[in-house]
Amino acid sequence: MYIDTVFTPYELLSRKNIEDKTVVVIDILRATTTIAYALWGYRNKTDKILGCSEVIPVETLEEALALSKKFDRNEILITGERFCLKPEGFDLGNSPDEYVTNKIQGKTIIFSTTNGTKALNQAKCAKFITTAAFVNASACADKVFKAKNDVIILCAGRSNKTTKEDSACAGLIVKLLINKCLEDNINFELSDAADIALNYFDHYKNDIPALLKSAEAGKNLVEVNLEKDIKDCSLINALSIATEYKDGFIRII
Ligand code: MLT
Repeated sequence: MYIDTVFTPYELLSRKNIEDKTVVVIDILRATTTIAYALWGYRNKTDKILGCSEVIPVETLEEALALSKKFDRNEILITGERFCLKPEGFDLGNSPDEYVTNKIQGKTIIFSTTNGTKALNQAKCAKFITTAAFVNASACADKVFKAKNDVIILCAGRSNKTTKEDSACAGLIVKLLINKCLEDNINFELSDAADIALNYFDHYKNDIPALLKSAEAGKNLVEVNLEKDIKDCSLINALSIATEYKDGFIRII
């Protein structure tokens, strides 16, 4: 298994044969974290309420609103962010805790964020596309390993710039995949970028919340009084679900 990482969507253009590969899309603050929470929904030990049925990522706000017209309004929620905040006319923003509610149960979520949904679009021609975050890293690595393809971990970054939080989570996914390869005696090779991500994660693994808070996107969240989101985005393996992005929909697999 060849494990590669790209720190920005732009770098993906330099990678060949994507149609034979698994692409793992990461946008820790907050798109892929929120996708995991939305599909997970609200669950506790006594009262099990599931999440939304699917997420449709779209690049622009206009696309989101136009697509919403094709559905019965009761079946969907239009959600996402611009400049960290809920766009006008949208039902929900991009804070993970907005999705921990029975309001989203069974709904189709039309989702548009600044960088995350764009990165998903760029991964579109891959053989298997999944979304990962700290909150579902282990469940995601499991499915990626089972798919047995070579892997590109695609960090959404910010406006095609590398981010600390996506790079660290990429490193965690690399680490989990290495462990699985070692357990099952599967040969693996890391690209230089995957090795850099692995070492970056190892350096910060005991203080992920502080890493997220010190990141540019983390500082922006603090500025708009959404510091609470940083904690929700930093909980490693809190949600035991993996996703697949296929035919325009992100669903639990
Ligand atoms: C993005 O897609 O850029 C992020 O979701 C931004 C955010 O959550 O504020």
